[in-house]
Amino acid sequence: MSYYKIKNLEQYFKHYKKSIREPQKFWGRVASENFVWYQQWEKVVEYDMADARVEWFKGAKVNIVKNCIDRHLAKRGDKTAIIFEPNNPDEPALHISYNELHERVCKMANVLRDQGIKKGDRVCIYLPMIPELAVSVLACARIGAVHSVVFAGFSSSALASRINDCECKMVITSDGSYRGNKTVDLKGIVDEALQQCPTVTTVLVAKRTNEAVPMQDGRDQWLQPLLDKASTNNVAEIMDAEDPLFILYTSGSTGKPKGMLHTTAGYMVYTAYTFKNIFNYQDNDVFWCTADIGWITGHSYIVYGPLLNGATTVIFEGVPSYPNFSRFWEVIEKHNVNQFYTAPTAIRALAKESLEYVQKYPLSSLKVIGSVGEPINEEAWHWYNDHVGGKRCPLVDTWWQTETGGIMISPLPFVTPTKPTYATLPLPGIQPVLMDEKRNEIEGNQVVGSLCIKYPWPSMARTIWGDHQRFKDTYFSTFPGKYFTGDGALRDEVGYYRITGRVDDVIIVSGHNLGTAPIEDAINEHPAVAESAIVGFPHDIKGNALYGYIILKDIGEGRDRNNLSKEINQLIADQIGPIAKLDKIQFVSGLPKTRSGKIMRRILRKVAEGDFSNFGDISTLLNPEIVEEIKNGRL
Ligand code: WT7
Repeated sequence: MSYYKIKNLEQYFKHYKKSIREPQKFWGRVASENFVWYQQWEKVVEYDMADARVEWFKGAKVNIVKNCIDRHLAKRGDKTAIIFEPNNPDEPALHISYNELHERVCKMANVLRDQGIKKGDRVCIYLPMIPELAVSVLACARIGAVHSVVFAGFSSSALASRINDCECKMVITSDGSYRGNKTVDLKGIVDEALQQCPTVTTVLVAKRTNEAVPMQDGRDQWLQPLLDKASTNNVAEIMDAEDPLFILYTSGSTGKPKGMLHTTAGYMVYTAYTFKNIFNYQDNDVFWCTADIGWITGHSYIVYGPLLNGATTVIFEGVPSYPNFSRFWEVIEKHNVNQFYTAPTAIRALAKESLEYVQKYPLSSLKVIGSVGEPINEEAWHWYNDHVGGKRCPLVDTWWQTETGGIMISPLPFVTPTKPTYATLPLPGIQPVLMDEKRNEIEGNQVVGSLCIKYPWPSMARTIWGDHQRFKDTYFSTFPGKYFTGDGALRDEVGYYRITGRVDDVIIVSGHNLGTAPIEDAINEHPAVAESAIVGFPHDIKGNALYGYIILKDIGEGRDRNNLSKEINQLIADQIGPIAKLDKIQFVSGLPKTRSGKIMRRILRKVAEGDFSNFGDISTLLNPEIVEEIKNGRL
């Protein structure tokens, strides 16, 4: 019997039990039966959760790209690996077969090696959603270079800090990018960032918009001529199971972004396994995940998970609203998409528009629909289920994180009965626990608590690049010996999980994970700002939006507040990116603080939500009188 695919609920429970009782046997079997290895492991897992050290498949030798591409060529060389759907619907889509992808990746890998990139070097990829993005990711992995993809919506200073944190030698970018009716000067953003990045010696530039861009002599090179000259023969690097595969930055509640490090073999096994089961992918299906490859969702379920399964995966360059709100549905129809995976924020935005946009399309190719990124509210769940899934496609609400590498809690289609707003049950190998305030595990059902995972799983992040102490402090010390997710959850009467949202200072806006601290730092750089605090408040489309409380310096007091607000938002856009802009800005004379100087965000959150009912105990505040002023000034 194979453990790779779960066929029914009974089998799910059977596999789940096996994976908990004998994790080594379970994952050993999944790994040996479904991948090609140069050499087998000595041990399936070795770990010390207290010290945050985990190793999977130690001693094994493997190359993930051989598993994504080469091993499929004999049987599926002509099968489409990637469908590229451009931003502009009038531009023809591109179908890239596994053979062609192999050729492209080998050429790119040779270009990287020619440019001096070696195993272990970090390469920053700052590209729009074009095939070159996936090809660059795979080329890095093929030669053992560590890719660090930075979402091409991030600003130049956010890009610079990510490049510097992991000391990238190279940046791969494009002249520009298309998004809806806008063109973005990506190369200009890179040029600005690189003024502060001493480690970058080479920039490779793909052509997309064909706008004229300045090229710096000795540093910048057009990618295409290099590819044209490159050979299609490339010998993949033989990697150790625990060799770094990629770094991906995510925001924390404090300080600079965390470079989550993922390694090779465990990530490979888990993303492949979860892709197969959670989307019930069948051989000729077309899978479409609308995320950007700049986020973990895109890494695991546009690139690696699908290709490891020999699937056809869609890369969509555009946005759901361009040229109109039918775009998603039109693309599903055009490419006969079978599995569609998107975010609640997109669903809510589309649900606001006329139903005709979606009803025009029968969407009969769809078999499974998925949701990711934040809790999906009941209304959005039903709209998605009724109007996109036609009440016949299982809706998989998948909970996971950049840190977890792959989906952790999710229904399996045609296996797990769904329940609106519930992520339902853990995948095999995943042991969720709910913890109370006294740090005890809460047993039984119908309970709420902080969500932790108590046993390692193959695709978990191994460290924060360059700062293992921070990794330990952030994830393994709140509840010693357990991985703390930062989320709260409830477990219902049958053991289904529902994720209720963050319990720390991370705010999820339109599915993007934003830390309060970096945004406040950006605001505080404004010369007229003395201090600031931001909180999230419920928003119809974005899930949460940002509400900023700002104390001005004397020089700011006399100034026009609308202009100040604009300047502050511009600063945030420059430092972090437009996604972090504040929806509301309230100027205040003080912030509620405890005697130890900590801002009491609970109160600020309540005011932002417009809930003045129960502020709890404010007697511990240094300045309780400020609460009244803040209430009265609410926007
Ligand atoms: C946070 C992780 C990997 C997914 C993309 C976001 C929230 C994610 C769900 C869901 C409720 C969810 C959590 C999590 N989240 N999926 N299905 N239901 N909440 O990755 O940027 O690392 O954010 O997103 O709060 O901790 P991320």
